[in-house]
Amino acid sequence: MILIKTDEEISKIQNAALLVSKTLAEIANILKPGVSTLFLDKFAETYVKDNKAEMAFKNYRGYPFNICASVNDVVVHGFPSNKPLKEGDIISIDIGIILDNYFGDHAYTFIIGDVPKPVLDLVSNTKKSLYKGIEKAIALNRVGDISYAVQFNTEVLYKYGVVRDLVGHGVGKALHEEPNIPNFGKMGKGAVLANNMVLAIEPMINLGKKDVYTSSDKWTVKTKDGSMSAHFEHNVCVQKDKARILSDFSIIESAEKLNTNLNSNYY
Ligand code: MF3
Ligand code: CO
Repeated sequence: MILIKTDEEISKIQNAALLVSKTLAEIANILKPGVSTLFLDKFAETYVKDNKAEMAFKNYRGYPFNICASVNDVVVHGFPSNKPLKEGDIISIDIGIILDNYFGDHAYTFIIGDVPKPVLDLVSNTKKSLYKGIEKAIALNRVGDISYAVQFNTEVLYKYGVVRDLVGHGVGKALHEEPNIPNFGKMGKGAVLANNMVLAIEPMINLGKKDVYTSSDKWTVKTKDGSMSAHFEHNVCVQKDKARILSDFSIIESAEKLNTNLNSNYY
């Protein structure tokens, strides 16, 4: 069953989503070559707990860290580590938190320094595809309309690999609620969307082929061909005319632009 949220619930999910956005903006301030993702993990935990919320990923189905830090060919669920980030890395940071019993869960891909044009375009087009999907998150559309919009703006237009094995989802009192939101599909297929459903839409897009595998650590998902992968996630509320985005990239983008160690030089 796909839950319809009350206005009060939506405002709680938004508060949670916005605290994730603020945490990602704080991370955008300190990202640079030499910083380890394990440091970012502790930094995020401290920031979230100082803001009276809890980390949602830690111990979720046994996940052993606070955040997911997915570098280069890691698609999602990368373990934070002591390894320093370096110029030319791209890193998706995915954070989930619980605030006042509701979940916020979103992600952003950062570019450390200079990267080849195709990698810059991958990050740019993945972010754009998320907004194309969000445009379809309106009442009486179907899940497949969102899915196809993402697929069209990545696989069809640019021949990127759209990951099949992982999907977006509903979010609210649980981290993962119905429906699943694949990043590939058919227009007019799947569950019908209704006003006040809350969704986490999260394209995971590879520069090479779509195939991925899970490492021996049981979590880290990587591209089979070793190609770079980008991932952006927003929490959105389905509305009649235009989806309402509950998370906020603008504060992350402002921090990203001010940090000369990051490359935000795209669209
Ligand atoms: N955004 C991801 C998701 O919705 C993060 C889950 S990581 C986990 O699936 F550790 F919580 F599993
Ligand atoms: Co998610």
